[in-house]
Amino acid sequence: MDGGMRAAAGASRRTFLGGLAAAVPMLAAAGTGRGADNESDALDIPGLITRQKGPDNLEFPFSNLKSFITPTEQFFVRSHFEVPTVTADDWTLTVEGHVERPLTLRYDELRSQPATKRTALLECAGNGRVFLKGLQPGLRWELGGVSNAEWTGIPLATLLQRAGVKPGAVDVVLEGADTGEVRPPNPATPGVISYSRSLPLAKANSPEVLLAWQMNGEDLTVPHGFPVRAVVAGWYGMASVKWLKRIVVLDRPYDGYYQTFNYTIWQRPQGLPTLTPVTELDVKSQIARPAGFEVVPRNSEYRVHGAAWAGDAEITNVEFSTDDGRTWTNAALVGEHVPYAWRFWEHAWRTPEQPGSTVLMSRATDSRGRTQAMERDADRRDAMISHVLPVAVEIR
Ligand code: MTE
Repeated sequence: MDGGMRAAAGASRRTFLGGLAAAVPMLAAAGTGRGADNESDALDIPGLITRQKGPDNLEFPFSNLKSFITPTEQFFVRSHFEVPTVTADDWTLTVEGHVERPLTLRYDELRSQPATKRTALLECAGNGRVFLKGLQPGLRWELGGVSNAEWTGIPLATLLQRAGVKPGAVDVVLEGADTGEVRPPNPATPGVISYSRSLPLAKANSPEVLLAWQMNGEDLTVPHGFPVRAVVAGWYGMASVKWLKRIVVLDRPYDGYYQTFNYTIWQRPQGLPTLTPVTELDVKSQIARPAGFEVVPRNSEYRVHGAAWAGDAEITNVEFSTDDGRTWTNAALVGEHVPYAWRFWEHAWRTPEQPGSTVLMSRATDSRGRTQAMERDADRRDAMISHVLPVAVEIR
């Protein structure tokens, strides 16, 4: 769908630079998202880059990457529909479908359960879409459709156990309270639908899948899913349903809009191209600084740094190239491995003596033996953008 983008070779680099240069006015105009026309909007969060208003979609400025836990006010926001109005008093969560004992919970009942805390990164499946060739239907995220937070809640498995999942259950659908309609030219929804996504039963029962009511030690904010959201650690962000209101257990796979028309990639079992829902995070690293087109001082030491992540796997190595991918050296991993979170990395770069321009790259490898691809895989359509991205810098 996207035609693929070659990241490494010179010819493709020119294409890439051309494409991004064209996008620069848009990136610059996005600024901090506090444009004159939206000063009064309630969800105009300072410190984030606006990609869309109404629904508000806001990007974390990745070149500001500093703290391992992203402050809530800097955590990216991805919402398909307008934010629903839900109060803690009105809110209920039902568990129904292929279960022995359907149940309905109130907010205070849920919060009275013994809580678990887990740090987990969310990355939107479209993060990096601006780097794909050709016009993409989805939002054009740069590097900041990713953030890392500490979540407080209970495992989804606890509620499934209480409801008693019947033999033969296959999928667990998580449904949000937000509703809307997608109209042509995008693939249209059958009228107004709510946002929903499913997990296979085994993932739904895994301890890393939480129903969370707190983020970074505070009650969830409205844009991030107040009162309660799912946090599906290890999967792309589309699975972590916000404003959760209903859990439906099915005895067959779910074919909802956001796992058929959207958030799907081609896979080729037995050579038969088959649309398959996006699920687990791929291995990936990103360079925070220098940022694209940053001017770096010549003949000096520059601390190149960034983050890498790999879903449920561990980052085992990040390599770094200062010559457009021709040669690589190992960067240093910072701190300890935290399951499901990102890992910071850094490299002391002795910049060239001569002024000019060059292309930097980072490439991560994980404990499953996966290494970031140099080439874009076109079968991934407009999602799962995890190949090596070049960062052009100017040396002065
Ligand atoms: N849940 C609901 N109810 N509605 C949505 O539009 N967007 C999903 C997911 N959960 C979405 C949702 C997507 S695509 C992502 S990447 C994450 O929420 C983003 O979570 P955040 O806005 O807290 O960063």
